[in-house]
Amino acid sequence: MGGTDETLGRAASRDVTVSAPSGRGAPTSRAADRMSGSARGEGEGRSRGGPGARGRGCHNGRVTRASLDKQPHEVAAMFDKVAARYDLTNDVLSLGQARLWRREVARAVDARPGERVLDLAAGTGTSSVPFASAGAFTVPCDFSLGMLREGKRREPWMPFTAGDATRLPFADDAFDAVTISFGLRNISDTDAALREMLRVTKPGGRVVICEFSHPTWAPFRTVYTEYLMRALPPLATAVSSNPDAYVYLAESIRAWPDQPALARRLQDAGWTRVAWRNLTGGIVALHRGFAA
Ligand SMILES: C[S@@+](CC[C@H](N)C(=O)[O-])C[C@H]1O[C@@H](n2cnc3c(N)ncnc32)[C@H](O)[C@@H]1O
Repeated sequence: MGGTDETLGRAASRDVTVSAPSGRGAPTSRAADRMSGSARGEGEGRSRGGPGARGRGCHNGRVTRASLDKQPHEVAAMFDKVAARYDLTNDVLSLGQARLWRREVARAVDARPGERVLDLAAGTGTSSVPFASAGAFTVPCDFSLGMLREGKRREPWMPFTAGDATRLPFADDAFDAVTISFGLRNISDTDAALREMLRVTKPGGRVVICEFSHPTWAPFRTVYTEYLMRALPPLATAVSSNPDAYVYLAESIRAWPDQPALARRLQDAGWTRVAWRNLTGGIVALHRGFAA
């Protein structure tokens, strides 16, 4: 698979908990300016998702095809189980693309020294490291204590914070930028999370969402869907400590809103100047917005 497309959308154990940051700083909009599209005026794109589109049920504690509508504690438990091998599994299942996607997120966020960045649903913190490396005070936040513990073991210097994305343990206007990589799809109430992200972002601050999306070229979409439904589960069985989690992954990607639909959700939550950019043909999309 190739690199980035230029498709522009129009339209814890408690030892990992730290206190919420405070303070203000000058936000930058240059990175997000690279996404020149806007969600304004976008037509009604197909939406396969939204909370109502997810599956139902859970059997014997196992995540099954019909269990996309999981309770938050079930989601946290699922990630607790995969924490130790999470990053390795990601690299394998994304066929090496995960690293490329992370580089693009870092470019889009464009974190600066002195800024405060919240990496929400940060898991083991792999998605947080680039912002800290850029000199920003970076807070990885997640509600899976297993993921946070694994992250703290690897990067003890980072202020891993236990928190639920729908009720963030941070003050209003606390961050210059809020970002979330491969996490929004897992949050039980997407719209509540988008509103919370806005609440903790200072006026003029930015959000960058990196999430699986829908390939834009129909033949490629067909091949990709085959990969998700047929090749990914056996691959996951080979490398993951909890292959069921990756059946869930495939199902949840298919059920997730497409690029224009997610852009509208951001707007509805109150984000302005919303735009997106496709990566790897739309397998992943980066959405951005600004706090008014
Ligand atoms: C696929 S992992 C992504 C981790 C990391 N951002 C990355 O890019 O590797 C999704 C994460 O979302 C977290 N998550 C799901 N729902 C959450 C919620 N309501 N609040 C906080 N974290 C949540 C899970 O615990 C999990 O660690």
